[in-house]
Amino acid sequence: MDTNNIKWEELSFDYIKTDKRYIARWKDGKWDNGSLVEDNKIAISEASTGLHYGQQCFEGLKAYRTKEDKIQLFRPDRNSSRLNDSCRRVLMPEVPEEMFIDACKQVIKANERFVPPYGTGATLYLRPFVIGVGDNLGVKPAPEFLFIIFCVPVGPYFKGGMAPVNFMLSDYDRAAPAGTGAAKVGGNYAGSMMPHQVAVDRGFADCIYLDPTTHTKIEEVGAANFFGITKDNKFVTPSSASILPSITKYSLLHVAKEYLGMETEERDCLVDNLDEFVEAGACGTAAVITPIGGIEVKGSLHVFHSETEVGPVTKKLYDTLTGIQFGEVEGPEGWIVLVD
Ligand SMILES: Cc1ncc(COP(=O)(O)O)c(C=O)c1O
Repeated sequence: MDTNNIKWEELSFDYIKTDKRYIARWKDGKWDNGSLVEDNKIAISEASTGLHYGQQCFEGLKAYRTKEDKIQLFRPDRNSSRLNDSCRRVLMPEVPEEMFIDACKQVIKANERFVPPYGTGATLYLRPFVIGVGDNLGVKPAPEFLFIIFCVPVGPYFKGGMAPVNFMLSDYDRAAPAGTGAAKVGGNYAGSMMPHQVAVDRGFADCIYLDPTTHTKIEEVGAANFFGITKDNKFVTPSSASILPSITKYSLLHVAKEYLGMETEERDCLVDNLDEFVEAGACGTAAVITPIGGIEVKGSLHVFHSETEVGPVTKKLYDTLTGIQFGEVEGPEGWIVLVD
């Protein structure tokens, strides 16, 4: 593929085969050294646990090109530790942090021509995953595992600039109270495709999942975490054992407190008390922040700041965090890892 013809700003979140991917195999109790390969297909046993029992997990993080033409990763240590949390939850071997970050760097360097230019808003998305493979029939951990990272250039989430979108509440649960909601395992996403489609068919961007025990508290906004800004300028985000701990969310909590001087709270966000928020948003690696225009509750749309305009605090949070990611704003110690 000739990268000179890529219109970086117009790229969406679609698969493009890049030059090289990293693959390591776990066998007899240890990972091999791993290597870069050209082939984007993997041959695995038809009896792999990853295919039948969902014994797998994945991550998503981005590499950014800076104004000085350096390439940097944003908090890859957090993706590494979340991957290992997910691995433990589905009885897979952990990937040492050093191996994880080194593999990310190898993949970026081997695909450097796919790292979008600074100023386009586009990034190189990395997709690390671990999957149980090998001959196995019963519901038990696989005899072997693969750890793979591939990468795809992706465009800015909002093409014409950030804009609010509306959401509906889902009648379906994304996770069980003590289930796998806090792990980034594929099964959580298989179960979300139908509720997502229901929301899209009704004209919403996606659905909001409530807590699986009482159905009164906001948990996740599609595949992103929720936050709200209160009338007295607090950054509030739900706390629950069944939410995926978003790295963007924890970064925004820090940015709100340390860069914008706001108070922050992790606590219940009741669907019956949305009036407490003057702005609301969804946060995750893909879009960083998706401003929430309104949420449909009991047949009517509860609008926060505006259905068309982005709220001022949401904008500041977005600008500061993306500024750190693209190297325009100095980040807290350890957040930025240079790929050199
Ligand atoms: C279910 C879910 N919630 C939240 C997030 C946001 O997490 P992060 O900010 O680490 O991308 C993601 C994406 O990874 C997700 O899949």
